[in-house]
Amino acid sequence: MSDAIDLAALPHDFLWGTATSAYQIEGAVAEDGRSPSIWDTFSHTPGKIDGDDNGDIACDHYHRWREDIGLMGQLGLNAYRLSVAWPRVLPGGDGTPNPKGLAFYDELIDALLAAGITPSVTLYHWDLPQILQDRGGWPERDTAEHFAAYAALVAARLGDRVTHWTTLNEPLCSAWIGHLEGKMAPGLTDLTAAVRTSYHLLLGHGLATQAIRAAVPHAEIGIVNNLSTVYAATESPADQAAARRHDGHVNRWWLDPVHGRGFPADMREVYGVELPEKPGDLETIAAPLDWLGLNYYMPATVADDPRGPAPYTREVRRLGVPRTHMDWEIDSGAIETLLLRLTDEYGARRLYVTENGSAYPDVVRPDGTVDDPERQAYLVSHLAACASAARKGAPLAGYFAWSLLDNFEWAYGYDKRFGLVHVDYRTQTRRIKGSGHRYADIVRAHRERGGREAA
Ligand code: FCB
Repeated sequence: MSDAIDLAALPHDFLWGTATSAYQIEGAVAEDGRSPSIWDTFSHTPGKIDGDDNGDIACDHYHRWREDIGLMGQLGLNAYRLSVAWPRVLPGGDGTPNPKGLAFYDELIDALLAAGITPSVTLYHWDLPQILQDRGGWPERDTAEHFAAYAALVAARLGDRVTHWTTLNEPLCSAWIGHLEGKMAPGLTDLTAAVRTSYHLLLGHGLATQAIRAAVPHAEIGIVNNLSTVYAATESPADQAAARRHDGHVNRWWLDPVHGRGFPADMREVYGVELPEKPGDLETIAAPLDWLGLNYYMPATVADDPRGPAPYTREVRRLGVPRTHMDWEIDSGAIETLLLRLTDEYGARRLYVTENGSAYPDVVRPDGTVDDPERQAYLVSHLAACASAARKGAPLAGYFAWSLLDNFEWAYGYDKRFGLVHVDYRTQTRRIKGSGHRYADIVRAHRERGGREAA
């Protein structure tokens, strides 16, 4: 592999992990009192998911989590990013907790800690209880308040052992893809609903941050955004303006409010939707955080598209750029750019890459091995770019590969495989892929050579 990773640029206590989310791996959707989430509803709506797949069984992690923690141990990892399923612990959305749901995460956390693996817990990875959707969902302010109550419950229960907390995973997807593009749950195409959702998600984030702080004095709290570097398709003023709008849509709309800068004025104008603001909300949304999480997959190249839906931009294919099985462009330089942007423009004091990875159509060979040179190359080149950002001053404290396991890839179903570990969905057999072994080697090398002193 030609790209050398500057491991010495990473702190010696760097978190090396993988990430997953509840609906994508747990299965057991009707077990032990879990209620349906909007993703159960969406995935069971014909035509919404490739192959009409759903998360009913997924990786059966609900029953196989001990084996999955064993795999993390085999890879030599010291961290794991997981999400709690809201409908498992609060099947009514609010009100009475489900003891069996809480017990599941309790046991999981204990086992992770016993294996020397630091858990990093995400509270919302898109699985809103359907019952709250029926009452209006994220376009309604109540949902933000219910989210804070749910956060308080989980923090009170796990906070004696869990330090790392994430409020929201990629609110952009919930708001824009779920309520504007209709390609994710709940499947709406309504700009007003989408903008109100974005607002209430960030309000919920702020309220949940306060709730976790109150319950867990030593909590280290962050929010996870999927950001993109944005390129203009041409040098025309219209495309340059489109790139600026797209940057507002995918990056600034999510970062500025959390940093006390309010919602970007140019984008408020682009959307033309009144925000459901109340006095004090902006302060709540800007509740101090300990770290920022970056999920990075690919950049965006856009052209002006006056007829399209907001933000009136259209993605353009760059020719000659290699792509993954998702048809996503491979551009490792962009992850470095984003880490440095969070450092310089937003003054980040601590950063984690909370997701990064690639899908390829893996094949299990007759001898049971899975060789995935392209995924290995993606992993190495992106880690090299992360280390380079760290060398240039980005306060990067950990990297979580997406994903531990092949899993239910939302609207793409099971066809797209992101795991460092292959899953045979007929037998639930797990096999560590070449990329998993490669990751383990990198982690071991960092441990043996030692990194720099933590800042
Ligand atoms: C991210 C999601 C994650 C996974 C990856 C491929 O947008 O957070 O759940 O689906 O993409």
